[in-house]
Amino acid sequence: MVDYDRFFSQDVHSFFRSPVREIFKRVDLNSIYSFAGGYPSASTFPLEDIKKTTAEVIDKYGAKAFQYGATQGVPELRNAVADRYSVPVERVQITSSSQQGIDVCTRVLVNPGDVVLTSNPTYLGALQSFKSYRAKIVGVPHSSDIEEFRQEYVTALEQCKGSGDKVKFLYMIPDFQNPSGETLTLEERKVLVGLAEEYNFLIVEDSPYRELRYEGEDVPTMYSLAPDRVLLLGSFSKIFAPGFRLGWILAAPELLDKIYVCKQSLDLCPPIMDQYVAAEFLTSGRLDRNLKKSIALYKGKRDLLLSLLAKYMPEGVTWTRPEGGLFLFLTMPEGFDAVKFYDVALDNEVAYVAGTFFRTDGKGLNTMRMNFSFLDESRMEEGVRILADIVKQHI
Ligand SMILES: Cc1ncc(COP(=O)(O)O)c(C=O)c1O
Repeated sequence: MVDYDRFFSQDVHSFFRSPVREIFKRVDLNSIYSFAGGYPSASTFPLEDIKKTTAEVIDKYGAKAFQYGATQGVPELRNAVADRYSVPVERVQITSSSQQGIDVCTRVLVNPGDVVLTSNPTYLGALQSFKSYRAKIVGVPHSSDIEEFRQEYVTALEQCKGSGDKVKFLYMIPDFQNPSGETLTLEERKVLVGLAEEYNFLIVEDSPYRELRYEGEDVPTMYSLAPDRVLLLGSFSKIFAPGFRLGWILAAPELLDKIYVCKQSLDLCPPIMDQYVAAEFLTSGRLDRNLKKSIALYKGKRDLLLSLLAKYMPEGVTWTRPEGGLFLFLTMPEGFDAVKFYDVALDNEVAYVAGTFFRTDGKGLNTMRMNFSFLDESRMEEGVRILADIVKQHI
């Protein structure tokens, strides 16, 4: 027997398994009422257009579509992203998904023990990445009062300063957050950018849901407020299809230069064929036409879930009302334990993700994240009814 433990790096001990992915392993999400994953609806994947575009790309680029390519991404896709978001192309790095964007930013910016500030709750995949580089993660609670909102961050920053910890960046999902579904106001974004200047840290703005807006007005990105302080991460996963594993980073060329070298060691280049297909989708207008349909579908699903929660959930349960994205967040009365009742839910063929998994402090046991993009509308009512019954029995 080989004792493998003696071979593992120190980083390995900081890895933690995603409880969300553990759920996926235990059940077939297609056969139950799943509000658990962050999966887009498979019906939004434009299969016929992908087939057509793939053939066009092969005709147009031939073998080049299957060769290695530039680490920054193929020029066609970099230019298409630069045009879409009105940024100079030198500020665009294509990534093999925005999860890689998070990971590469952390790898380039964080030494073990450095602080990454984030909202509480926050995206689980980001916490996995920060932990794997042995960052010290500091979660900051959200207050809807702007003065208190600022004060929470100032308190955290002053504490870090007092203990000699270096804050490298703030990680935020300002648009239709995963898991809460909430969106930061312009004032809140300005406060964060102001603090980044005052306390000298960077902001990693992760916004894969930004273009899935169902009502209200777009709020300017923090990147647009401070393009030299903010690294903006985008993704094709929710506006096109996650199987392509493509995203992008918009940032100052000096930052991208290090990210680019780091990416050489990660994957040499993002997938070439996928990039050409994505570029054709963007420039031909196919992506936007498909996105419009996805938005209409998801708006209907969000509205349905909101109305079903109102119909079935008992008094004392509250939830967020997201203006976009794929999630909303439920708070049950104190005492309800969403981790404990998870197995009961699964036995009854319903899945959700306990809200505490998205926190840095283990609190929020009475919260849960619900996804509304994946489950078919015809099955949503039964799923909510079963879940509401479980909640009723245990509060
Ligand atoms: C906030 C956030 N960032 C990043 C990702 C990862 O997305 P991608 O498929 O681009 O890696 C997700 C996926 O759910 C997410 O919710």
